Amino acid sequence: MSKTILITGSTDGIGKLAATKLAQSGHQIILHGRNPQKLAKVVEEIKSAADNQNISGYIADFSNLEEVKNMAAKIKEEQSSIDVLVNNAGIFKTAHTIAGNGMDIRMVVNYLAPFVLTNSLLPLLKKSKNPRVINLSSAAQTTVSATSFEKNSNYSHNEAYAQSKLAILIWSFYLAQQQPDVVTIALNPGSLLNTKMVKEAYGRFYSSADKGADIIVDLVTKVNYSECSGKYFDNDNGDFGRAHPDAYDNQIIQDLISITRKIVS
Ligand SMILES: NC(=O)c1ccc[n+]([C@@H]2O[C@H](COP(=O)([O-])OP(=O)(O)OC[C@H]3O[C@@H](n4cnc5c(N)ncnc54)[C@H](OP(=O)(O)O)[C@@H]3O)[C@@H](O)[C@H]2O)c1
Repeated sequence: MSKTILITGSTDGIGKLAATKLAQSGHQIILHGRNPQKLAKVVEEIKSAADNQNISGYIADFSNLEEVKNMAAKIKEEQSSIDVLVNNAGIFKTAHTIAGNGMDIRMVVNYLAPFVLTNSLLPLLKKSKNPRVINLSSAAQTTVSATSFEKNSNYSHNEAYAQSKLAILIWSFYLAQQQPDVVTIALNPGSLLNTKMVKEAYGRFYSSADKGADIIVDLVTKVNYSECSGKYFDNDNGDFGRAHPDAYDNQIIQDLISITRKIVS
């Protein structure tokens, strides 16, 4: 059965590839990008590659939470329901490490933006019979420090990225508990996949981008995953696995959610 699927960061990398594969299977795809020209081009590319006209696109720079809120408002005006939200947009190495609000751009794009978007879109997700949220984490996970939410924090690319990827994972587990009707799964799509992010950061890769796109497609579509809410799928091992120990610590979860709510409110 055709699903309505919103994939953030679907103008490149595994998000674009997963969007194309899902469009080829006849699903309605809502794309997202930060660059209007690039997004318009990808919308047309996927329509043609998949012979599917049910492709639309929304613009927001996720380093600006106001843009995220505006995008969510527009989607709510224009779409009647969403079956699956894939929080895929992400950033690692960048020349500009500080977002407009003064915080580390990795924390804003990789964690705060999906937090804001998902909470804003929950009413649309709840209109679906089987809503799902897939949150892109990573094998790179390290303890989230309160200082990483301070203005002009000065972490290395690796440290800032790994903190943001543990933050989205911790929040996934929390969301699964808070919203038992919404299947929420955190995903490491595989390490060093052949994408723009990895090429820019390392200049080499270990696995194809298809490896990451295919697990996204599976988690979005396969019925058996409806029993897996609150779990972490580690695609380096091809199975569900243990995340960083902080993700199972109630105090750490509560502290993260409380600081996050203060920032986004
Ligand atoms: N590739 C890997 O090996 C790997 C491993 C573990 C986890 N992941 C995660 O998988 C996800 C996809 O990564 P990828 O490798 O496919 O990366 P990618 O090829 O660089 O694609 C990233 C996507 O996010 C978008 N994006 C980046 N910054 C944004 C911003 N400020 N506002 C809105 N959109 C923004 C990009 O838009 P543009 O097209 O405009 O650049 C692009 O569509 C990320 O969350 C990443 O952390 C990847």
